[in-house]
Order: sequence, then structure tokens, then C-alpha cells
Amino acid sequence: MPFDLPEHMQLGVAAAATQIEGGNQQNSWYEWYQKGHIKDGSDPSVATNHYALYETDAALMKKMGIGHYRLGIEWARLEPKRGVYDDEAFSHYRNEVLHLQKLGIKPLLTLHHFTNPLWFEQMGAFENAVSIDIFIGFVRKVVKELGDLVSEYITINEPNVYATSGLFFGIWPPGKKSIRLTFRVLNHMCACHIKAFKLIHQLRGDMGYADTKVGYAHHMRVFAPKNPKNIWHRLCTPLLHRLFQSCISRAYLTGKACFPLKRVKGVDAGLYCDFHAINYYSRTAVHGFGDGVMDGAPVNDLGWEIYPQGIVQCSKELLALAPLPIYVTENGTCDNTDSFRCRYLYEHIKALCDSRLPVARYYHWCFTDNFEWLEGNSARFGLVHVDYATQQRTIKQSGRFYQQMIAQRGVTQQMYEAHCTTPYSIKQKKAYDV
Ligand code: BGC
Repeated sequence: MPFDLPEHMQLGVAAAATQIEGGNQQNSWYEWYQKGHIKDGSDPSVATNHYALYETDAALMKKMGIGHYRLGIEWARLEPKRGVYDDEAFSHYRNEVLHLQKLGIKPLLTLHHFTNPLWFEQMGAFENAVSIDIFIGFVRKVVKELGDLVSEYITINEPNVYATSGLFFGIWPPGKKSIRLTFRVLNHMCACHIKAFKLIHQLRGDMGYADTKVGYAHHMRVFAPKNPKNIWHRLCTPLLHRLFQSCISRAYLTGKACFPLKRVKGVDAGLYCDFHAINYYSRTAVHGFGDGVMDGAPVNDLGWEIYPQGIVQCSKELLALAPLPIYVTENGTCDNTDSFRCRYLYEHIKALCDSRLPVARYYHWCFTDNFEWLEGNSARFGLVHVDYATQQRTIKQSGRFYQQMIAQRGVTQQMYEAHCTTPYSIKQKKAYDV
């Protein structure tokens, strides 16, 4: 049961600007909150107040031995009006990155993580072709301002989740239900990623740096028929896999057309990732065009199946396209009482280690509890507990377990026996069905 981390694998933590920072009301998720869509009424302009408390959070990371941090920047804060940039906000992020580096924590910077500036949202965001130039203008500015400090970038987080939640299911901003718009947005985001990849390399190259690494974070799942004897379930499985996942894996990586995604205009086919970035949480039991969970499967507090071997399956799926290093840029679980997160961590990281795949990084989602989009603050994914009334941070048992795993470079028999055998729950999932 014990295992050692391979030498090449580094452990870190992840977060996204809107989910932790607070203090910004000029973005699409604040507007969504104002419209009353957040289930528990949590206000994303408060979140964990990380914008003011970043030194506190960095000190906790340092204490836990964390050497890698995937962090986001809030576009709405940096470009409050189209083409108008906020120097103070840029210097805030410079200070945050410098502070992390002083503590020996290496940043991986996410440029877009679900949230848009209000002005961009109001003009139709990625539904319009002009969004590509607008996003690239923002990327250019960020790399000019932070490029001397940051060598590793995620261009866009989970285009498939952004597009399907916002434009197919209509449960996220902008709240539309159109398959045509979903794929239009995915096409434009593909162009954004590829052009940003090229631009970041070019700008940092001009600055004299040769260590640039760029990817996009792909939300990946395992798809399996809920009832293997049911022909409809069996037919929908490869279709869903293609539409939600594999068309994106191929088009974003290579720039080639992969139905229903088109070739990116004006870009030659190539290799547009320096690493495969995977966000992995769960498996989908397919029974139509929605999400489902296998009967009797272990689930987390949001009803998502816990399926550790899926992290390896998804990694192999991307490695079959190109032999790049794997960065698991998100993996974690909603466990409000922190009762099974140690076991979850153990099983997913062990599966990666046992696979012997070239996994260079594993970033746990997430560092502190945070604003979990539609669910609000009440769905807790953190290694560190946040008391939202006082903004007090307390390392959870799973946080101490992760700390120990980093210090020991693995899990010992004693750690396993003490923390990794808690039973999972098997209650049913509420699915987003069409
Ligand atoms: C997103 C995160 C989110 C997490 C848990 C991922 O899809 O990138 O922002 O909090 O899942 O739901």
C-alpha cells in the first residue's frame, strides 16, 4: 500500500482568481450572482479575500512545503474597459508572483478561467470572432508586464466546461441553450489558445527566455455506458466523448479540424502545447446527452463518482496524441467534512505513480476552500478550511496529509493506515440532463 513519488513528479496546489480573490464586481460571475443564480447566495466579490490576504495564503503554502502554485489573474480587474489597463492591478500581480518566488514557490499562470470582464460579456464574449483579437491583446499585455517573472502559462481553463455550461445547458453565464453557439465558442477559444501559445513563445523569446511552457487546461472525464446492454447508452458514449472531449484534445493541440471543430484559420497544423494539462474529477455514466453516475458507485458530496483509475485513462488518451509531459492541473473533491479527501488524494496520486506515465506535476484542486461557482461557498474542495465569517484559514487533516506526502515524497504504511481507508459514500447524483 505505501508508494514513493517518482523523482520527476512535483506536487502543488491550484486556484482561480474569481474563486478566491474577492473585490471585483465588474465580471460575468458577479453579474450571475446578482441575478440570483448562486445556490447558497454566496457573493463572489467577497470569496476568500485572497486579493488582500495573498501573503497569508503563500505563508501557509510555504509551511506545507508546497513548491508549485497554479494561480489565475482576473481579466476584469486588469482591463476594466476595453483597451484600458489598470497599472495598479498589474503591479499587484507582479508583487504576488515576486512574493511566491521569494518563498520558493513556482507559479503556473492561468490567463482565462471561466470569468469575463463585463464589457466583454456584454458584447457576446467568445461568441464573436472579434473575441480572438481582444483576448490576444490582453495576453500580449500580460506577457509584457509579467513575462520576465512567469515562464509557465495556461491559456484557457476548460473550454468544454465553459462552453457547455454557459451555452448548451445554460446554467452558467451567459445562460444560453444553443448547440451552434457552443461549438462557435469552442472554435473561437481554440483560435485564442493557439494564437496565445504562439504569442507567448514569441514575446518571451524576444525577451531572451528559452524556458517558456504553455498549455490549455482540458477538463477530461471517462465516458462509459451506464447500462452496457442498452443500445442508446452505447451509441451515446463515443458521441459524447467526441463532442465534449476528443475533438478539443486534437484541435487545440494540433490546430487541425476535428469534427465538429474547424481548422483554425491562418494557422498551420502544428503542436500547440508544451505539456498536456488535465483537470480530472470523475467518470460520466452515459445514458443520453447529460451527465450520470453508475449505480452503487462511490461519490463525493456533490454526487460525482470517485473513479481514481480515470486519471490514468485520460492521461493515456492525451499521450496517444503526442508524447508530452503531463501536468495534472486540477484534481480534487468536494468533501465538506474532510472525511475522505486523504483517501481520494492517496488513490489518485498512487494511480498516477503506478502508471509510470511521464507526470511532471500534480496540482491539487484546491488550496483553500473557495467560491465553487453555482454551488457557492458551501461546496468545500480545499486542503485548507476557510471560516467565511472571519476569513480564518485552518489546515485540514487532508492538508496535513498532503504536507506529509510532500515531505516524505510518498505515502508510508503508517500514513496509509491512519488516513486512507475511510469508506466513501454511495448516495445518488443530481445530474444536469437535457
Ligand atoms: C474548474 C474549477 C472548479 C472545479 C470543481 C473545475 O472544472 O476548473 O474552477 O472549482 O472544477 O468543480
